[in-house]
Amino acid sequence: MRTVYVNGEYLPEDQAKVSIFDRGFLMADGVYEVTSVLDGKLIDFDGHAVRLQRSLDELDMTSPISKEDLLEVHRELVRLNGVEEGMVYLQITRGAPSDRDFVFPDPDVTPPTIVLFTQNKPGLADNPAAKKGMKVISIEDMRWGRRDIKTVQLLYPSMGKMMAKKAGADDAWMVQDGFVTEGTSNNAYIVKGNKIITRALSNDILHGITRAAVLRFAREAQMEVEERNFSIDEAKEADEAFITSASTFVMPVVEIDGVALGDGVPGRVAPRLREIYLDESRKAAI
Ligand code: PDD
Repeated sequence: MRTVYVNGEYLPEDQAKVSIFDRGFLMADGVYEVTSVLDGKLIDFDGHAVRLQRSLDELDMTSPISKEDLLEVHRELVRLNGVEEGMVYLQITRGAPSDRDFVFPDPDVTPPTIVLFTQNKPGLADNPAAKKGMKVISIEDMRWGRRDIKTVQLLYPSMGKMMAKKAGADDAWMVQDGFVTEGTSNNAYIVKGNKIITRALSNDILHGITRAAVLRFAREAQMEVEERNFSIDEAKEADEAFITSASTFVMPVVEIDGVALGDGVPGRVAPRLREIYLDESRKAAI
C-alpha cells in the first residue's frame, strides 16, 4: 500500500481523507503538478514548483507549503514508496469551508488542502510506445480560456482521450480557430526538415516544463525552433510530429486523423530529442 501525504501527514493511502465540502471536489477549485521520477530522483522539480506558484497566484490562492518543504515531501514520498521510475502527483485546492458557497472562503479561516501521492511506473523511460509512435485525432478545443493555469478541471481532456480511444487512436490534439493548441495532457509539435514548430506560449496552452527544456536542448543542438500556430492540414504534411509532457517526455506522433506522417514510423528528430532530454534530465535530476 502506498504512503501518501495529506495536509502535513504521511498516511497509508486508505486512511488519507479530504472533506466532502472541499472546493477541489465541489468546484474543481484546485491546481496540480506532475513531476517525473527517474533513477529515484525528481526531474525538473524547480520548474514545476515555479509553475505551481504561478497557478496559485493567478487564482489568488495561498500556498500551504514553502518550496523547500515541498521538495522534502516529494523526496520523502519517493523514498517511502521506493519509486525508481514514475511520477509524483501534487494537488492544492482552496480548502474545505463549512458549506458550499461560490464566494471564495477567507484563507485565514479555511486553509488550502494539499495532497501528494506517487505513481510507480517501471519502464517509463524505456517505454516501447516511443519506438512505435502514437496516433492522434483532432478535436475542437472546448476548454476554458485560462489553460496556462494548471487547474484540475480535466473533464474535457478526459473526454478527448475517450474520443481518441473510440477512434482507435492514442490521444487527441485540440484545435481552436483552425490551429492546434495542444494535446489533452501534453504540448504538440511538428517537424519540417530541421525545423521544430510549436504554438507560442499564451493563455491558450499550458506552459509545459518539458516543452521549455526540450526547446532549449533543441536550440543547443543547432535545431531551428519556430514558435507559431500550425493547422491540422499543415501537421498532416509534416515530416514528423511529437508531444512532450512530464509523463511521456518526448513521444513521436506517427498518424494524425488517419493520415500517416512520412513513412508512418518515428523519424529522426523526435527520437533524438527524446534521447537528449532523458540524458540531460537524468544528469540534472535531484
Ligand atoms: N499534463 N498541456 C497540458 C494540457 C497538460 O496537461 C500537460 C501536462 C502539458 C505538459 O506539461 P509538462 O511538460 O509540464 O508536463 C501540456 C500532466 C503530465 C498530466 O496532466 O498528467
